[in-house]
Amino acid sequence: MVEGTYYIETYGCQMNEHDSEKMSALLERMGLTAVSSPERAEVIVINTCSIREKAEHKVYSALGKLKPLKAKNPRMVTIVSGCVAQQEKEGLLKKAGYLDAVLGTHCIDELPELVEQIKKTGERIARTAFSKDVKSLHVTAHGRGRSPVCSYVTIMQGCSNFCSYCVVPFTRGPEQSRPFQEILDEVSALTQKGIREITLLGQNVNAYGNSHDMHISFAHLLEKLHKVQGLNRIRFTTSHPRDFHEDLISAIADLDSVCEHVHLPLQAGSDRILKAMRRGYTLDYYLGKVAKLRSRIPKIAITSDIIVGFPGETEDDFLQTFEALQQIRFDQIFSFKYSPRPGTGASSLPGQVPEEAKTSRLAEVQTLQDQITQHYHKLAEGTEEEVLIEGIRIKTGQPFGRTRTNKIVNLESSQDISAGETVKAKIIRGLKHSMIGRKIS
Ligand code: SAH
Ligand code: SF4
Ligand code: F3S
Repeated sequence: MVEGTYYIETYGCQMNEHDSEKMSALLERMGLTAVSSPERAEVIVINTCSIREKAEHKVYSALGKLKPLKAKNPRMVTIVSGCVAQQEKEGLLKKAGYLDAVLGTHCIDELPELVEQIKKTGERIARTAFSKDVKSLHVTAHGRGRSPVCSYVTIMQGCSNFCSYCVVPFTRGPEQSRPFQEILDEVSALTQKGIREITLLGQNVNAYGNSHDMHISFAHLLEKLHKVQGLNRIRFTTSHPRDFHEDLISAIADLDSVCEHVHLPLQAGSDRILKAMRRGYTLDYYLGKVAKLRSRIPKIAITSDIIVGFPGETEDDFLQTFEALQQIRFDQIFSFKYSPRPGTGASSLPGQVPEEAKTSRLAEVQTLQDQITQHYHKLAEGTEEEVLIEGIRIKTGQPFGRTRTNKIVNLESSQDISAGETVKAKIIRGLKHSMIGRKIS
């Protein structure tokens, strides 16, 4: 056991957030305690993202802040993990003399041993090998998460899709599924600790089981997890439209614990652009999936990711994206300007779209979506929703949680409501990003 403190700073997606939770669990098992500011930490991990240029810039400015800290306290152990670490490998050690280690996305399980070795020898180390059986896929976070009630559970690692704009297949390696029994054991242990909602994580969860000839599909996995005692809600992200089949629609419709929400990134509304993105579907195909989902599960919330300004995107292509958003009316979207990523196919395509055009297209998409989202929230006024309480707002004392469709509800007062309870609430006001509710049972 080592005495001491640690601090982890996290960038990027839910996989990265969850990787940080796993690293916390590993460091705490060594005897380290979390602190809330890097100045007081003896071990610092910066868990990085490189999905867009802007994300990567943020990481480099965070790294810059380590330099004076390390100068002040040379015994501090400084580690970079995540997607930038995987991409840059030992090159990062050369670039930043104040870094002790680079930890790749397949090597999280090696963190404790890495810290020990650095403390003992003062060596500078890069661990970035990819492996066929990713050990870090088996590491669990033991319920360390954003709330005492909800937890992420990894079911897959990596991605083999190679969408032409995306770095993830390079930074996370090929798609691998986690053994079913391990997932079941983790979920059972979490519910015994009081977790009521899990979010199954993977870049393409509906391809679960494909990579290892596991004879179990994602829909089957949901069926098995549905039977875990004490688990009220199952969510999952992200689904790829190409692999979104009837059996999964049935699982959402038929299994009570599977929430009525799918995040199904469309990316673009023009077939020409979808093809250049290598997404493997057309707009019509996608509309077919949405229609099926909505006819089988009328309450379903559908959210999406949209990229504007992909190379070669004309005004007309963009209009098709805009019209698709008007037609589909997603509950919410995450929208981004296309950002060229080194080593990806799209970065060398002709017809890169000027920055100003990307900026104005993004603004148009976001204005439209804000109206749509707010409209849904207004429509909900007067309806009853099941809200799983995740905690109490520190400033206002309001209990808050989410509906089954993943919408945030702040309740009016804290009258004997605590985290982990499922309450029926009447929606009394729909706002831009959330709703206000009143407990009715
Ligand atoms: N596996 C998920 C997405 C992971 S990345 C899926 O396929 O849906 C999250 C989102 O970031 C993507 O859906 C995409 O919209 C966006 N994104 C990825 N690479 C990007 C790039 N180079 N520029 C802009 N947005 C990008
Ligand atoms: Fe990236 Fe495409 Fe894989 Fe999603 S499916 S992680 S966008 S390559
Ligand atoms: Fe970023 Fe890596 Fe996630 S690039 S979005 S942290 S998979």
